[in-house]
This record gives sequence, C-alpha cells and structure tokens, in this order.
Amino acid sequence: MASGSVRRTSNGTALTVSGRRSTPEGSAARSAASLVPVSSMPNPMPLHPVATRVAKKGLLDKVLRFDDEVHFLKSWIEKPLATGAVMPSGRILARTMARYVDPTQDGPVIELGPGTGPVTEALVRHGVEPRRLVLVEFNPTFCRLLRTRYPEATVVQGDAYRLRPLLSSLMKEPAAALVSSLPLMTKPLRTRVRLISDALHLMAPHAPFVQFTYAMVTPIPKATSSITVHASDLVWANVPPARVWVYRGR
Ligand SMILES: C[S@@+](CC[C@H](N)C(=O)[O-])C[C@H]1O[C@@H](n2cnc3c(N)ncnc32)[C@H](O)[C@@H]1O
Repeated sequence: MASGSVRRTSNGTALTVSGRRSTPEGSAARSAASLVPVSSMPNPMPLHPVATRVAKKGLLDKVLRFDDEVHFLKSWIEKPLATGAVMPSGRILARTMARYVDPTQDGPVIELGPGTGPVTEALVRHGVEPRRLVLVEFNPTFCRLLRTRYPEATVVQGDAYRLRPLLSSLMKEPAAALVSSLPLMTKPLRTRVRLISDALHLMAPHAPFVQFTYAMVTPIPKATSSITVHASDLVWANVPPARVWVYRGR
C-alpha cells in the first residue's frame, strides 16, 4: 500500500498507513504496527466533497431521527394511550406496511396516525406520490412536522375515529389504500369495528386497510363477515416486535 494512505476501522475511526509499500509476506503485521490515528497527524487527508456530503447527510438523518424520537417520547409521556408507543416504528415495520399498498392503483392513500412519519416515508419510497397522501393525525406538533416534511400531502389534524365526517368532503375519489398505526387496542371493540366500516366506505372495493399492532391477535375480529383478513409474519426486527394485519372488503 502506498505511503500515507487512509484506512477506516470497523467503528469508522480513520487510520493512516505510513511507510513502505506492502509485500505479501508479513504485510499484516507491518500494517498493524504502522497504523496511526489520523487525529494525531498534523494534516489528515481531506475527504472528497462527495464523501463529505454523504457523511453530513448521514449525520443529519441521525439527528432528525433522534429529534423525532424525542418528540415521540414527549408525546407518549403526555398522552401514553393516544400515542400508543414509546418510539416511532422502525424502518422494517414501516416498509412491511407500505408493501401492501399498490402505488399504481388510482386514488388517494390515507394514513391514520402518521406520528413523525416513518410509515409516510416508507410509502413515498415505495412509490406513492406525496400529493396523493391524506395524513390524519391528532397531535398538533406531529401535524406541523408532517406539513414541513410533506408540503404536497394533505395533513388533517383531527380524530381518526371520526373518519367519515372528517374526510367525506375532502375525498373526490375512493382511496386506493388506508394505512393505520392507530393504537386500536386501547379502544373498545365497537369503536374499532366502526372505524373499519367507515374506512371501507371511503375506499375502492378490495382496497387494503393496513394496520400494525404489537398485540398477538387481530384488532378487528375475523368473525366480521364483510371483510377478509390477512396477517403478516411477526416483524421481529421492530422494537417491540409487531405484526401487520390487512383487511379488505369482500
Ligand atoms: C403508535 S403511534 C404511530 C406513529 C407512526 N405512524 C409510527 O409508526 O411511528 C400512533 C399515532 O397515532 C396518533 N393518534 C392516536 N389517536 C389518534 C386519533 N384518534 N386520531 C388521529 N391520530 C391519532 C398518535 O398521535 C400517534 O402519532
């Protein structure tokens, strides 16, 4: 290896390799002995501008995620039952939910309880244009955040359990899908059943009502004859593990 080149350790610490070119024999031992932390060098090699931008973006993402977690925790402390979780959903769970939405299907995509927007982000990455999103959120702080992040989406601040009065005048065509992170299990069964019945009225025939839950059972009873029910595998990567349920009108 050429004199003065830079290596990174698995934890990201930059190290420079000083000295002669490597030869196959004994190069590992020589390299290890000659590794010097860049921070202790007088003039560490500057990062390429593109690498700098990527590093800054990674850092910005981390800061934003941390900021979201703080907002979320604050909301949970103030209203634990309505917030329904201590932390925003993880990316894998959000992606699992988004995959049940067909982005080529016409019509708006409704999201209930978007919070700080992890599922919203997964929907957009999955190909749903932000202007098709109708985001119904109770918490005014989350609504402000969502309006900043998704200026093209329609953000409705209100109670999702009053779905029809809230959205009827807004919806010009049936929804292609509805994705919900509402903490349904904190509500009486009749409220949950009314929610899905109201939702199906706003949706295209057979469009999916996608719901995640930490509970081991379906939040909407399978016995309801007017819907079909599908359950995903448990998403172990989420903390806590969660399952995605998909309901469709028959
Ligand atoms: C479990 S969190 C999920 C947030 C986000 N989707 C996520 O996956 O991280 C539930 C969200 O639903 C919102 N919420 C709870 N009850 C609501 C209601 N009746 N109407 C609208 N939003 C509600 C909460 O404010 C919170 O943002």
